[in-house]
Amino acid sequence: MAIKLVEDGPETQSTHQRRRGERRLDFGTAWEYAPAPERPDHVRLRDRYGLFINGRWVSPESGKFFKTINPATEEPIAEIAEGSEADVERAVAAARQAYESVWSKMRPLERGKYVYRIARAIQERARELAVVESMDGGKPIKESRDFDVPTTAAHFFYNAGWADKLSYAFPGRAVRPLGVAGQIIPWNFPLLMAAWKIAPALACGNTVVLKPAETTPLTALLLAEIIREAELPPGVVNIVTGAGATGAALVNHPDVDKIAFTGSTAVGKLIQRALAGTGKRMTMELGGKAANIVFADAPLDQAVEGIINGIFFNQGHVCCAGSRLLVEEGIHDVLVAKLRDRMATLRVGDPLDKNTDIGAINSREQLERIEQLVQVGEDEGAERYTAPCPLPEKGFFFSPTIFTGVAQSHAIAREEIFGPVLSVLTFRTESEAVERANNTFYGLSAGIWSNKGARLFKLATQLEAGVVWANTYNKFDPSSAFGGYKESGFGREGGRHGLLPYLVVE
Ligand code: NAI
Ligand code: MG
Repeated sequence: MAIKLVEDGPETQSTHQRRRGERRLDFGTAWEYAPAPERPDHVRLRDRYGLFINGRWVSPESGKFFKTINPATEEPIAEIAEGSEADVERAVAAARQAYESVWSKMRPLERGKYVYRIARAIQERARELAVVESMDGGKPIKESRDFDVPTTAAHFFYNAGWADKLSYAFPGRAVRPLGVAGQIIPWNFPLLMAAWKIAPALACGNTVVLKPAETTPLTALLLAEIIREAELPPGVVNIVTGAGATGAALVNHPDVDKIAFTGSTAVGKLIQRALAGTGKRMTMELGGKAANIVFADAPLDQAVEGIINGIFFNQGHVCCAGSRLLVEEGIHDVLVAKLRDRMATLRVGDPLDKNTDIGAINSREQLERIEQLVQVGEDEGAERYTAPCPLPEKGFFFSPTIFTGVAQSHAIAREEIFGPVLSVLTFRTESEAVERANNTFYGLSAGIWSNKGARLFKLATQLEAGVVWANTYNKFDPSSAFGGYKESGFGREGGRHGLLPYLVVE
C-alpha cells in the first residue's frame, strides 16, 4: 500500500521534521493489514469450572458461581466457582496432608521431574494457553504467545533444575521447605504469575493453595488440568477461585505457613496487617511508578521503542511499567514528537488479531479507573495527547495517551494508573534525574537510556528500584530476581533469591 504524504498544518508535523523542512509520513494510514485473528476453535474450555482440590474438580460448598468475561467482547466465557472459607479449609487441609505424607518426603530429584513435566506440558499446550490468556484477560495474542506462555514454561524449567541442587544454591547451609504456601495473584499476567508462585514453591518442597484473580481465572484452571495430567500427587497444588473474600480466607487460615501476594499496594497493606504477629512468612509484590530516564546522548529511536514497550506493553497493566518518562530537557520536544508519531501507528483492538499492539483493558472497573485518573491529569493542567487509533465499538479499550507538562505534584506523576498512559517530566542534570526518579512511594523498576556505560552503572546503584534496565525495558528471565523497594513490596521472585521465600535456611 502506498504511503500517504500529509501536507497540512504544523500540528501534524513533528518538531524535528518541521525544523528540517520535511513533510511527515502519515504512518497511521500507511499499512493497513488485513485482519489476522488467531482461531480459538482448538481451545477446549468447559462451560463451568469447579475448584481444584486434592487432585479433583469439586463443587464449591456455597454452590455459587460467577462469570468470567472476555473484555474485548464483553461476552461471558465460562462460569467459575466462588470459593468460600469452607472451600479454603478443604484446600489447605489437602495441601497439608500432601505436604506431610508425600511431597516433603519425596527425593528432590523426583520432585524436580514433576516440575519438568509441568513445563513440558505447558509447551505442548502453548497455543491453547495463549489464546485463552488473550480471551480471558484482553492482552494481545502476540504477547501471550511470545511472552507470557514461553516465560511461564521457562519458570517451571528453571525451578525444576533447582529442586535437587538446593544445597548448592546455599552452600554450607541446611535448607528445608516451609510447608503450605498460600498464593494470591493478580489479573495482569495470570498464567505467568501462577508460574512465578507455584514453580519455586514446588521445587523447594512446599505444597500450594493458589487463588487466581476473579477476572482472569481460566489459564490457572487449565494449569490445574496440566498438573492433573502430569500426575502430581493429589493436594500438592490446589486452585481455589473467587474474589477478595476468598483471598482473605486464605490469608487468615491458621495452617498456612506463608503468603505470597502480587497485586495492589492497598490490598498488600491489608494482608500485612492481617498477618502481623502470626509468625507466617510473607512476600509482597505490589504497585509501581517506574521512571524511564532518557539522556540527550541516548540512541533516540531505540529509546522510543523501549518507552513504547515500557508503557504500552500489555495495555500498561504492568506493575513495572515505565509510566514516568524523565527526559533531559534539551531533547524533550524531539523525543515527544517521535513518541507521538510512533503512538499513532499502534494498533488497538482485537486481542486475538496477530497485528494488534494494544488489546483490551482487563475490566470495566479498570477502564473507569484509567479514565478517572486521565481526567484528573487534564484537570491538573497537564497537556494530553491521545493517539488517533480507531477503537472497536464493543469491549473495554483505551487509546495510548501521553501527558506532557507534568509536575511532580500531579496525581498522574505519583499514582499508579495501570493503563496505557505515560507522564512526561524533564530534568537538567544527572543528580536531578536520580532525585526525581526516586521521588515516589514505589520502587519496583527503572530504565536508563544513555550512550555512556559509566553513567548507566553509576545511576543503576543510585536508583531505588528492584530492577534497573539499561537501554532496554521490560526484559525478564527466570534466573533474574524481581521485586520491590519501599511500597512496591519486599521479597524477590525468580533466580536463586526467589527460592529463599520458600525455604528455611539454617
Ligand atoms: P487487587 O489487589 O484487589 O487484586 C489482586 C488479587 O488480590 C486478586 O486475586 C484479588 O482477588 C485479591 N484480593 C483482593 N482483596 C483481597 C483481600 N482483602 N485479601 C486477599 N486477597 C485479596 O487489585 P485490583 O483491585 O484488581 O486492581 C486495583 C489496582 O491495583 C489496579 O488499578 C492497579 O493499580 C493495582 N494492581 C497492581 C498489580 C501489580 O501487579 N502490582 C496487579 C493488579 C492490580
Ligand atoms: Mg475474564
